[in-house]
Amino acid sequence: MGGEPILSAARLAKSYVTDGVQTHVLLGVDLEIREGDFTVLMGPSGSGKSTLLYCLSGMDAPTAGEVRFRGKLISGAKENELAELRAQSFGFVFQAAHLVSDLTLFENVVVPGYLKRGRSAHEARGVAEGLISRMGLEEVAAHLPNQSSGGQQQRCAVARAVVNRPDIVFADEPTGALNQANSREVLGLLGGLNAEGQTVLMVTHDVKSAIRGNRLLYFEDGAIRGEMALPAWDAARAEDAAYVRDREAQATAWLSSLAW
Ligand SMILES: Nc1ncnc2c1ncn2[C@@H]1O[C@H](COP(=O)(O)OP(=O)(O)O)[C@@H](O)[C@H]1O
Ligand SMILES: [Mg+2]
Repeated sequence: MGGEPILSAARLAKSYVTDGVQTHVLLGVDLEIREGDFTVLMGPSGSGKSTLLYCLSGMDAPTAGEVRFRGKLISGAKENELAELRAQSFGFVFQAAHLVSDLTLFENVVVPGYLKRGRSAHEARGVAEGLISRMGLEEVAAHLPNQSSGGQQQRCAVARAVVNRPDIVFADEPTGALNQANSREVLGLLGGLNAEGQTVLMVTHDVKSAIRGNRLLYFEDGAIRGEMALPAWDAARAEDAAYVRDREAQATAWLSSLAW
């Protein structure tokens, strides 16, 4: 586990100025995301986890420092280059599904799939159909988002995030708005994709979600303050209470050691 470094940050800094007051959110983050890992970013609310995710994924521009994707400098790249990178190489899942309200669930998945370079429309439809089925959405594929449940919408958002076979999926509290059953389902889908090699970087403040990862990072006061490795999540043991409890206990003990 933990292949080649795919995404790296060096001395990454980000400050916001609001009403003349400067807030320093990232204070020199050094980080490497390795291919194939399910990396989980934890930390207190308001500490800057989302900001870090956005700066790493080219959605926001850092104030200082560098981000490299496969060795190539992406911080400071032009907006059209970043848009291309996000469309071709990155996938995103947020707390809310953010589906396009007048497209069906299937269309929400297939339309971004048409953007993938070197792929025909026919191939894009095939990939989207496969994902719709894998996410258990066949019966609601022709529904509009407002005709589907919150859990279905979020599963659709996961399908959309991976339709272009991204190098990295960034997930920012992807289960934050879901009940426990839907959370487990969405986490199971992300974990299943990771088991097939999909690199995932997920923000969560929830230990139950965090234990799906194999590398846990703790972010506080502007930088990564701690790190814990876990064996890759074994989906076959998802219903094994002792297995889940043991991982939760390890993660909780680690967080306590950081005075979480
Ligand atoms: N666009 C923005 N303008 C000004 N301040 C912001 C902006 N985005 C985030 N912040 C501030 O940066 C800090 C970190 O926010 P965020 O990254 O959303 O934290 P987290 O995801 O850990 O809850 C907060 O104090 C927040 O108010
Ligand atoms: Mg956040």
